[in-house]
Amino acid sequence: MSAAPAEETRTFRAPGRVNLIGEHTDYNLGFVLPIALELETRIRTTPSPDGQLHIHSAARDETRSWPLADVSSLRPQGHWSDYVIGVAQQLIQRGFDIPALHLHVESTVPEGAGLSSSAALEVASALAFLQGRDLDRLEIARLCQRAESDFVGMPCGIMDQYCSLFGQEGAATKLDCRSLESEAVPLPENAAFLAVNSMVKHSLGQSAYRTRVEECAEASKALGITSLRDAKLDSVLATPMPETVRKRAIHIVTENRRVEEFAAASRAGDLASMGHLFRRSHRSMSQDYAISCPEIDFLVDAAVAIPGCYGARMTGGGFGGCTVNLVASGAVKGFSEAIREAYRKARGIDPQVIACVPARGAGEIQ
Ligand code: GLA
Repeated sequence: MSAAPAEETRTFRAPGRVNLIGEHTDYNLGFVLPIALELETRIRTTPSPDGQLHIHSAARDETRSWPLADVSSLRPQGHWSDYVIGVAQQLIQRGFDIPALHLHVESTVPEGAGLSSSAALEVASALAFLQGRDLDRLEIARLCQRAESDFVGMPCGIMDQYCSLFGQEGAATKLDCRSLESEAVPLPENAAFLAVNSMVKHSLGQSAYRTRVEECAEASKALGITSLRDAKLDSVLATPMPETVRKRAIHIVTENRRVEEFAAASRAGDLASMGHLFRRSHRSMSQDYAISCPEIDFLVDAAVAIPGCYGARMTGGGFGGCTVNLVASGAVKGFSEAIREAYRKARGIDPQVIACVPARGAGEIQ
C-alpha cells in the first residue's frame, strides 16, 4: 500500500499515559485502568526531496538518516530511533511502504518516568508513516507493541500502546488485555489524580521486567494454565512452586481483583475505597512483586500522610518513575507543595508534579 508522495507538512500526536491501577497485569492478560495524558509526543512530517528517511529529535538535537531501501533490514542499535525504525519495519511487514519523509520529533512526556514515552513515540511514528492511510487502531496498537518487544527487545504488554490510541477525555479506560475490549470508567469530580515524578530510574528496570515476565510464565506452568489471568488465589497458595514465583502470582491475582474493585469504587464516587486500593496495590508491588525502590516507597509514605491524599502507589514498570496520587480537589495545591518539600528535604531532589487529566487518544493535528 503506497502513500501519495508527501507534499505538505502534517503533524501527528500521541499521548503518554498514567496507569491508575493494574500493574504488570497486561502481559498476564488481565485488567488495567490507564488514562491518556495531556503530555504527548508530536511528529511533524515534511517531504524529503533526497528520497531518504530522516528522523530528528528536538530533545537531543540529533538527526539520523537512512536510504529508504535500507529501512527494512536495519538492526536495533540501542538508540532512541529504534522505536521509530521498529514501527517502520512492522508497517513494511504489513504491506505498507515507508514514504520519504523528514520526521521532526518533540515530546512533553518525560523519559524514564513510567508515563509511556516509548509508546507515545511508537504510536506517533506509526501515524506519521501512515500519512492518513487507513489502518485499524487496534492493529496499530498491536504492531507498536510488537515493535517494542521484537525490535527494541522489551517484552511489554499492550497497555501503553492501547491507551495512547484509545484514550478518552474525562474517563479512565478499563482494558481487558485478553479480549482487548475496553470500557470507559468515569472518575469522581471532587478529586484529582496527580503523578509525582521521583526523577530516578534504576537501571535494573528492564532486566527485572523480563525476569517478572518469566516468573509469571513459570507460575502459570506450575498451575497448569496458559496465563495468570485464570489463576485462583487458593490454587496459587496450594500448588508447589518456588516461593518467589508464588509471590509474583499473588500480586497478579490480587491486582486484577483490585482493578475491578477500583473501577466499581470510582463509579460510586467512593474515594476512601479508591485510596485504600491504591495503598494495597502499592504494598503488593513493593513486597510481592518487588518492583519498587526506596525513592518511590518514600514518596508513597510521605503522600498518604498529607491531608487530603486518599492513597498513593507507584505507576508503570517500576524501579523509579512516578507515583500516582488520589487527592481531594481542594487539597491539590497544599499536597503539591508538601510532597515537593518532603522529597527535597529527604532526597535533595525537586520532584515534578503532573496533573493527570484524561486526554483523547492519538491523531493528526489539523
Ligand atoms: C510498562 C510496559 C507495560 C506494562 C507496565 C506495567 O509500562 O510497557 O506493558 O507492563 O510496564 O504495568
